[in-house]
Amino acid sequence: MQETKLKNLTFLSQLPAYFSRLESQKRVRTLDPPTGLDFCSNDYLGLSQNPKLLEALKEGIDLYGAGSTASRLVRGHRSVFEELESEFSNWVHAESSLFLANGYAANVGAISCVADPSYLIFCDRKNHASLMDGVRLSGGKKVYYRHSDLNHLEELLQKYSGHANKMIVTESIFSMDGDSSDLSSLIHLKEKYGCLLYLDEAHSIGVFGEKGAGLSSAQVPSQISNIDFRMSTFGKALGLEGAMISTSSDARKYLLHSARTFVFSTAPLPAIAHAGLSAIRLVKEMDAEREKVLSHSEYLRSRLHKLGKDTGNSSSQIVPILLGSEAIALDLADKLAKSGFQAKAIRPPTVDVSRIRVSINAKVEKQDLDGFIRIIKEN
Ligand SMILES: Cc1ncc(COP(=O)(O)O)c(C=O)c1O
Repeated sequence: MQETKLKNLTFLSQLPAYFSRLESQKRVRTLDPPTGLDFCSNDYLGLSQNPKLLEALKEGIDLYGAGSTASRLVRGHRSVFEELESEFSNWVHAESSLFLANGYAANVGAISCVADPSYLIFCDRKNHASLMDGVRLSGGKKVYYRHSDLNHLEELLQKYSGHANKMIVTESIFSMDGDSSDLSSLIHLKEKYGCLLYLDEAHSIGVFGEKGAGLSSAQVPSQISNIDFRMSTFGKALGLEGAMISTSSDARKYLLHSARTFVFSTAPLPAIAHAGLSAIRLVKEMDAEREKVLSHSEYLRSRLHKLGKDTGNSSSQIVPILLGSEAIALDLADKLAKSGFQAKAIRPPTVDVSRIRVSINAKVEKQDLDGFIRIIKEN
């Protein structure tokens, strides 16, 4: 892997050398409007273009204006935020929820204010950057366990069993691998060793569970309250932006007063919250789309396996095609793009193994999958 970090930047004059080192790894942007079939976004249910959602967003602007003008603790608060929090909590069976501007802000804000330097924080190796930044900012000691290896997690929990304050931080559906966590075992471990459990449901909300209420609703419906914090985003299957932390009423009150990304940041557009209410109502009724997305993902995996491709442990709408090198991944992404498929190469250092990260949404049809597989087969 080529070194891309800018070490010891003391002079802006070093930037040209830095950019030339980056050349082989440069991040690729797609100009607006994106072309080609969407095999890479997180718009899993196609809601970002749903006419009812667009209408709700416009209506929200008419009702509330554009910006919220300040933090919710100053004058940015509107009752629609609390309506959204209450409707969301009912949907995901939480005691209460707090709405933040996005998932990144939610993870960083919540973890860094709940944990402090007295904490040991047990982190899955493949946790999203926003979770890890929250952990770093908390000042707690980070303890990595091997990805999804709960035996390893238990070994570490045993080793540190004398430590008072502990938290486990993980994802429901991992964003780059599309595999899922075993929530029942995680709850068992958190109870046994007296830890807090923080779960990121960014890629499962809307797609898994009863009425799309997330992987916790699918796997552990009767134990949801044992998960201390669940973070769900509005920017993926819900087609908007924003994020909820679902937790106990007391913990919500604490976050509202202490999560720095909530307190010291302008409240989201009230129109987003207004549209968020519609998004929840729409998503609950989208069982057919959920089934389609998951069965198409399974079909894609099985066809890829027949071609000898490795999709890791994917079991969701996120299907990585693991490849031997960055160059192979970039070349394949390029060929797919030229054939009308938008599927992006994801490379180190974002992931350990270069890949095409395919994500299937409800607008992808079977013939699109067959066309995609044909290109993979030819290359
Ligand atoms: C697992 C996970 N958590 C959190 C986030 C951040 O969410 P947002 O894009 O709303 O900031 C992402 C975004 O990609 C993610 O994949």
